[in-house]
Amino acid sequence: MSKPVILTGLRANNQLHLGNYLGALLPIVKLQKQYAGQYQINLFVPDLHSFTTPIDHSKLYEQSLNNIRLFIAAGLDIKDQDTYIYRQSFVPAHSELTVILNSFTYMGELSRMTQFKEKGSGQSSVSVGLFDYPVLMAADILLYGAKYVPVGADQTQHVELARDIAIRFNNKFGDIFVLPEAEKQQIEFAHSTNRLRIKDLQDPSKKMSKSAGSDKGIIFLGDDPEVARKKILSATTDSFGEIAYDHETRPGISNLMDILSALSGTPLADVQQKYQGLSQYGEFKKDVADAVVNFLKDFNNKLQAVDDQLCLDKISQSEKEVNQLANQTLAKAQKAVGLRQ
Ligand code: ADP
Ligand code: TRP
Repeated sequence: MSKPVILTGLRANNQLHLGNYLGALLPIVKLQKQYAGQYQINLFVPDLHSFTTPIDHSKLYEQSLNNIRLFIAAGLDIKDQDTYIYRQSFVPAHSELTVILNSFTYMGELSRMTQFKEKGSGQSSVSVGLFDYPVLMAADILLYGAKYVPVGADQTQHVELARDIAIRFNNKFGDIFVLPEAEKQQIEFAHSTNRLRIKDLQDPSKKMSKSAGSDKGIIFLGDDPEVARKKILSATTDSFGEIAYDHETRPGISNLMDILSALSGTPLADVQQKYQGLSQYGEFKKDVADAVVNFLKDFNNKLQAVDDQLCLDKISQSEKEVNQLANQTLAKAQKAVGLRQ
């Protein structure tokens, strides 16, 4: 019997930051290790999703490949036989299934999607691509019968929609799609990898995000380590005069503790114990800055060391294989709607 599928995608339309690394790259690397041999892992670059909002198209091709390099530098084992690494647009079934699913998805549902409302609001014109984004995402998931789709909070609504579309389609045509697990099971599964929410260094009430107004609160994976050091040293903390971990009242310090713990591999409880009650914020920040600098240097060395040929070979092998898998599901859907006999 085939193995249950864990599937996730990370868009390649900007520089990735420490939040992406700790919240998206590392969790999938951990899942791969944790479930070695038990699950099939589909990790892909949703390149067709990348220009649902405007981008620099001259960089897209290279950025898609670079995203995959980042996963490898973060520790993803590309030799693992159960892991497929591919680009969405190299598997035409994604686009084909989207067109079919469009006719089983309602305008009302798509209009209610938070991402559409947020990204579309205030724009003089909004593309059909942005509106249809969740249907393409549903095709990404359903083509492989993925059960678990680890994504950030902003994307869970889309996974739920994929499940709703699959249920609707199955009700009409029989058992065509495997359903992704419901929200509760997805959350339980994702939490087993301890997902972190890293905050902006300047405004710790917000998450670290590439859509923030200023770069000062963001550590980019490509930052010069000394620039990153300055960002940490000038991070917003608090005026209590005593270090304590509490995201409600001391979000700045707590965020730095999370970062230190994650990057140094020290359990959070040990970090808390070491600094709790101290008044030297400067000393603490220096330790966090050192951890960030060491991480960036090490990560960039790993990135340089990625074997591009090995990476390209894996991608082209995976793309061959997943095309076959995806086409099998597509054929079932085509038959169900009467396009094929
Ligand atoms: P951004 O907010 O920078 O645009 P995306 O929304 O494209 O990031 O998120 C890409 C992935 O990175 C998602 O899986 C998301 O959950 C994760 N992620 C983004 N920002 C953070 C953060 N600050 N902390 C943890 N994970 C994050
Ligand atoms: N929409 C996701 C994001 O913006 C990326 C994505 C596209 C995805 N298709 C997917 C994630 C399928 C998981 C499964 O982060």
